[in-house]
Amino acid sequence: MISASGIRPAPTSARTAPRLWQLLTAVVVAVAALTAVAALHAPPARALDDGQALTPPMGWNNWNAFHCNVNAAIIRAQADALVRTGLADAGYDYVNIDDCWMEKSRDKAGHLVADPAKFPHGISGISAYVHSKGLKLGIYEDAGRQTCAGYPGSLYHEETDAADFARWGVDLLKYDNCHNGSDGSLSDYQNRYQWMHKWLSRQNRKILYSICEWGVNEPWTWAGSKGHMWRTTEDIYNSWYSTKKIIAENAPLASYAGPGHWNDPDMLEVGNSATSPATSHQGFREYKTQFSMWSEMAAPLIIGTDLTRASRATMRILGNTDVIAVDQDPLGVQGRVVKVPANPRGTSTMSKMLADGARAIAFYNPTNARRGMRLGAARIFRKSAKSYAVRNLWTHRATVITSGIFGASVAAHGTVMFRVSPRW
Ligand code: GLA
Repeated sequence: MISASGIRPAPTSARTAPRLWQLLTAVVVAVAALTAVAALHAPPARALDDGQALTPPMGWNNWNAFHCNVNAAIIRAQADALVRTGLADAGYDYVNIDDCWMEKSRDKAGHLVADPAKFPHGISGISAYVHSKGLKLGIYEDAGRQTCAGYPGSLYHEETDAADFARWGVDLLKYDNCHNGSDGSLSDYQNRYQWMHKWLSRQNRKILYSICEWGVNEPWTWAGSKGHMWRTTEDIYNSWYSTKKIIAENAPLASYAGPGHWNDPDMLEVGNSATSPATSHQGFREYKTQFSMWSEMAAPLIIGTDLTRASRATMRILGNTDVIAVDQDPLGVQGRVVKVPANPRGTSTMSKMLADGARAIAFYNPTNARRGMRLGAARIFRKSAKSYAVRNLWTHRATVITSGIFGASVAAHGTVMFRVSPRW
């Protein structure tokens, strides 16, 4: 007998008898439904799982301080400064060349050529120098026909360019999104970043892949299977407005980040007032906030200031190993916003789970007035502990609290950061 749907039904006895099948079907349907609901809240993107970027990448990039005026002397001087100041020992190990490093056209064989006036020994020359310092070299290209500054892009040249990067000793590629001539579809964006991923992963060299798509097509939902980090926002500027806006956009994306795949709220502006006071609207309090919140959000820490001229205050921020430890915690969880109804409007409290069971708490006050903020242990720990060891990560002062209430008076645009360890 053939049923109307064309599917041959099972014999009557088999159809009516076993309730077990109905039960199993119901369980399967329920599990599928729950999985679908969970998928709405969980990161659908897989991580690359190639052993790279198990904690958020750290390093230096020339763009925020030098823009297009990049050259080998600058890169060498910054590599030297990373080592001399101890920042390399603190974990900053990538030295990244941004846009404008190349000639305006490819050579006859279709290869990119480093501008000989800027890089007289080519990219191989500068990578040898950076490697001799125990550091790694990053470079910049674009998933379109031209880079943002109008140099040749990698679109349709991915195979050649990835092989050249590997041959030159490049360890990181920041891959931008200008002049992409895209049809605007999601698949078009995904394909561009996928092509470069494919060719990078075929090289005989590990190259960290930093996707710079500015958050246009919600890369946090798909870029984890292609790259190790993805920009979540438009470019940062050296202004408090920009810092605050980026924090607001990046903070809700916590569930998408993890070892090998990170939300990237762009590079640090810490220290740039000191070198460019005319354009700056932020000072050291705001820079401490940027550094605190980037670490709380497990963001890549890419320094964007001239380290050969950095002040002591800048170095104290960039070299705060207590805060860096929060960013680099091996559990690799991005801090989440905690609901604290009692706190003043416009402020937010974040909690980042750490590998040893402690939490990094950030009281963040983007408002223009000082605010008192509080948090009860019950909002961050499942059960209450006998006491809590609390360490202020900027004053480095340690206390023990038995009440389970943590509080701070937080200056306008400021952030107070604690490490809270429960003692059961
Ligand atoms: C884009 C990127 C920036 C920088 C510039 C270089 O704007 O988002 O980070 O790389 O291009 O032109």
